Amino acid sequence: MEISSDLIEKLKSANSILFFTGAGISAESGIDTFRGKGGLWNKMSAQELASFDGFMKNPNLVWEWYQYRRKIVRETEPNAGHKIIAAFEKHFDEVTVVTQNVDNLHKRAGSSNILELHGNIERNFCMNCKTFYGVEKFIETEEVPKCEKCDGLIRPDVVWFGEMLPQEIFAKAERKAADSDICFIVGTSAVVYPAAYIPISAKEAGATLVEINIESTEITNQVDYSIIGKAGEILPRIFELLSTYVLVLHTLSLF
Ligand code: APR
Repeated sequence: MEISSDLIEKLKSANSILFFTGAGISAESGIDTFRGKGGLWNKMSAQELASFDGFMKNPNLVWEWYQYRRKIVRETEPNAGHKIIAAFEKHFDEVTVVTQNVDNLHKRAGSSNILELHGNIERNFCMNCKTFYGVEKFIETEEVPKCEKCDGLIRPDVVWFGEMLPQEIFAKAERKAADSDICFIVGTSAVVYPAAYIPISAKEAGATLVEINIESTEITNQVDYSIIGKAGEILPRIFELLSTYVLVLHTLSLF
């Protein structure tokens, strides 16, 4: 794994860092990605399981699938990649995580500024009256529950195919991207829009783009640095190189 010293130099003078993350960052925690080898959408139907029409057609099936995914998420832990992203807050004035993931692992790893573009699997809401429900309430519920206020259908608070992203969150993510000095693109195939506009917004505003992925993606030819490898190995290495520099600076300032 080659990390250019030039990139470390750029990081030393950066103030604002943005991480744009996807399913690949959680792969090392044991959560399947959607595309590529072993990807969920190679074996399951996104139309059936992750669309409004799919839910209306068979709400119990979709509910069951989300309950299954929640169980997996509950049984996993944030990995080194999530933890190092949280640790970046020690070195930089501003660190924002814009994630397409719904697994809540960035929060559990300790990141403070997280913008969830596709919602969060740990929340539900009533489709009729919009009352929110935490995941705990329905932990053992096998069939889709009904709202206790209005009897409406309760669904996971995630963005399905064809649905709008939460507009305020997306607008804030675009602003943060445009304000960032360095934008890391970690573990995403970068094919799902509008989310994939985030790194493009960063680039258009002059940010340096750094991709970390086990393979090349749709965005590789637009980035300044493409680092091929696992997020849970590369991020700690970058952090280590940066921390050595900060330590030297600190030591020098003592004399
Ligand atoms: N480290 C870094 N990258 C990895 C790792 C790893 N350990 N493991 C896998 N990857 C990369 C894959 O090479 C792939 O490019 O992670 C990427 C995962 O891509 P997708 O499965 O397409 O996930 P994502 O980009 O998050 O998908 C976007 O599509 O259906 C949806 O709503 C879902 O938010 C999701 C959206």
